[in-house]
Amino acid sequence: MARVIDGKSAAASVIEVVKAEAARIASETGTKPGLAVIIVGDDPASHAYVAAKSRMAKECGFHSVQHTLPAETSQEMLNGLVGAHNADPSIHGILVQLPLPKHLDSDVVIQSIRPDKDVDGLHVTNAGKLAVGDLDTGLISCTPAGAMLLVRSVHGDDLSGLNAIVIGRSNLVGKPMGQLLLNANATVIMAHSRTKQLAALTRTADIVVAAIGRAEMVNAGWIRPGATVIDVGINRLPAPEKGDGKSKLVGDVAFSEAARIAGTITPVPGGVGPMTIAMLMVNTVIAAARATGLRPLDF
Ligand code: GUN
Repeated sequence: MARVIDGKSAAASVIEVVKAEAARIASETGTKPGLAVIIVGDDPASHAYVAAKSRMAKECGFHSVQHTLPAETSQEMLNGLVGAHNADPSIHGILVQLPLPKHLDSDVVIQSIRPDKDVDGLHVTNAGKLAVGDLDTGLISCTPAGAMLLVRSVHGDDLSGLNAIVIGRSNLVGKPMGQLLLNANATVIMAHSRTKQLAALTRTADIVVAAIGRAEMVNAGWIRPGATVIDVGINRLPAPEKGDGKSKLVGDVAFSEAARIAGTITPVPGGVGPMTIAMLMVNTVIAAARATGLRPLDF
């Protein structure tokens, strides 16, 4: 039976460091780290994530601002709000929750965020720094950064000789995850929906990162015995066994069967999810330290 990583407890340790760092920044510069979160529309899951982010920002002692905009918000209005936060010295991090309603161009919005305030790591400047191996001067997307901390907790900082597979090639998760693993000397397969022989390729991997967005797709037969399995998926499935109309969250990995084969595995919920929020707080204190002339912590 695999060791199950407790993402909540790993995230709580990160948050303790963030709180101390926020207090140091405030006492040395008189400025609290400032995080602005913008959400457009009324997708319930996005609202739940954003509420958790704003709550955690307050708990960390940040200046926390949340903008909840109606679904019919115009591109001009959204661009204007991002522009105002770009210019506001009390804000060090800006996050626009994705996905945006269809009439809005998310790429235009994201690329308009100042790279030094882009705590999602989605700006081409930050994505490019990661791609060229500069992990020190940009900001790294929160979910892969958190998943990488979990990988390092199992394998250490140097993944030389280990095979990794990332299933999913999104800009938010798959691509930056591949870059982080490669940077740590893993041999990386970037797999996606058009990949053939996905099960056989996955079975070659010592480290599997599942970020596909398909409930329980990775099953026990895909896992190499002893592998480390990091499940980034969050999928809601009906759960009639819990009562009428009830649902449950599952990952992209069929957890109970995969846990019989893997060496280490993350659960859903309670694995990568809490780490994502913790790393958003990390990115905000890093951005705030840089903006106020302090040396940011290494995480
Ligand atoms: N939607 C789901 N995950 C994320 C995330 O990490 N950042 C943003 N901005 N939107 C998301």
